[in-house]
Amino acid sequence: MPTQQLVIRWLTCISPTSAVIALGSEMSGGIQDVRAEDIVAINSETGVRIKTGVGRGGFVKDKYVKGFTMHTMKWAFWMMGNYGSHPDDKWDTNAIPIIQNINYQDMVAENVTMAARLEGIASDPFTGICISNVTIGIS
Ligand SMILES: *[C@@H]1O[C@H](CO)[C@@H](O)[C@H](O)[C@H]1NC(C)=O
Ligand SMILES: *[C@@H]1O[C@H](CO)[C@@H](O)[C@H](O)[C@H]1NC(C)=O
Repeated sequence: MPTQQLVIRWLTCISPTSAVIALGSEMSGGIQDVRAEDIVAINSETGVRIKTGVGRGGFVKDKYVKGFTMHTMKWAFWMMGNYGSHPDDKWDTNAIPIIQNINYQDMVAENVTMAARLEGIASDPFTGICISNVTIGIS
């Protein structure tokens, strides 16, 4: 059953060892139509992180993030397609997740170690990723 039609607004968060907002790693039922707006992140690993991997199946799609301010971050953007953590070894190697239509807009970040860490899945590209009007100051 998908998690869908989420609105996350006016959040200020300090998350030193993780993301301010994480989608996954359990996303096998699907996650769609997520809007995050007017968020402030301080001393965090990343802003919005997508965590998935082969064996999960499902999808993460139609995500809109707008108005995000970040202070002291490891990565402004982080997507990973190699998240393991399967409960046992019986997972389906054909269960490929779909990551599609991910939008980031109007973001300002300062004191960031690396602008982005984007790791997809071989032969399963993440598509429709749009990053616009983003300013990142590297530490
Ligand atoms: C770009 O982002 C900044 C910071 O969020 C915002 O103030 C500005 O209006 C945006 N510019 C455009 C053209 O949307
Ligand atoms: C900038 O980030 C580093 C860690 O990368 C931290 O030690 C330092 O305190 C930060 N500087 C400011 C002005 O926040």
